[in-house]
Amino acid sequence: MTETPYVREPGYALRYRDERFHSGSGAATDRRERAVLRSLLREAAPPPGPWLDVPSGAGRMSDELPGDTVQVDRDPAMVAACPGARPRLCASVHHLPFADGRFAGVLCHRLLQHIATPAERIDILRELRRVSVGVLVVSFFDACSLQHLRRRVRRWLGKNRSGRSSVSRRAFLAELRAAGWQPVRAVALRRFVGEQTLVLCRAGTS
Ligand SMILES: C[S@@+](CC[C@H](N)C(=O)[O-])C[C@H]1O[C@@H](n2cnc3c(N)ncnc32)[C@H](O)[C@@H]1O
Repeated sequence: MTETPYVREPGYALRYRDERFHSGSGAATDRRERAVLRSLLREAAPPPGPWLDVPSGAGRMSDELPGDTVQVDRDPAMVAACPGARPRLCASVHHLPFADGRFAGVLCHRLLQHIATPAERIDILRELRRVSVGVLVVSFFDACSLQHLRRRVRRWLGKNRSGRSSVSRRAFLAELRAAGWQPVRAVALRRFVGEQTLVLCRAGTS
């Protein structure tokens, strides 16, 4: 798959790190996401070993992960904005520069709602499966939610072209299985209200 080079406006990465999740509804979302992620990680019981946070963005969730964490994002400004001294690099989630089975666990948070087709999502999930021997925590936008309905209405009215893609929970779990993951538990931040949903998976057979 050919990917176009990625350029965002100057300052985006620092705003994402310092502002996006620090006040108002952003701060509430951040609290809910951390609570759901922690509960899934408690249940996960991954094998010991390093974790991969991809896309890491500016490293918001890396502190939540057990074990040493490698941060990967395709945006060099995001990678540069990650605080701390973890290993980090700029790469695409489609072609991760790691050996098979390198990680005990992978977090893929707030990426797949930007991916339009099932085939492309499965391609990414397969690449995550290739590099992990343990568990995956992955987020997606659930189409069975008021937030999704609102987005659709705004699109019909020509008011919004957000570029976000939602999928039913059932369809997304099927995509995970097609990529070699066994879904264990899916938890929405606010079921039927908000779209954001996290899923804990174990490595299955491809
Ligand atoms: C909404 S941010 C999420 C960051 C972080 N996981 C969080 O929850 O705060 C999405 C990130 O995905 C990155 N991204 C988009 N497509 C990517 C790709 N193909 N490979 C790696 N990173 C990608 C963007 O650069 C951006 O930093």
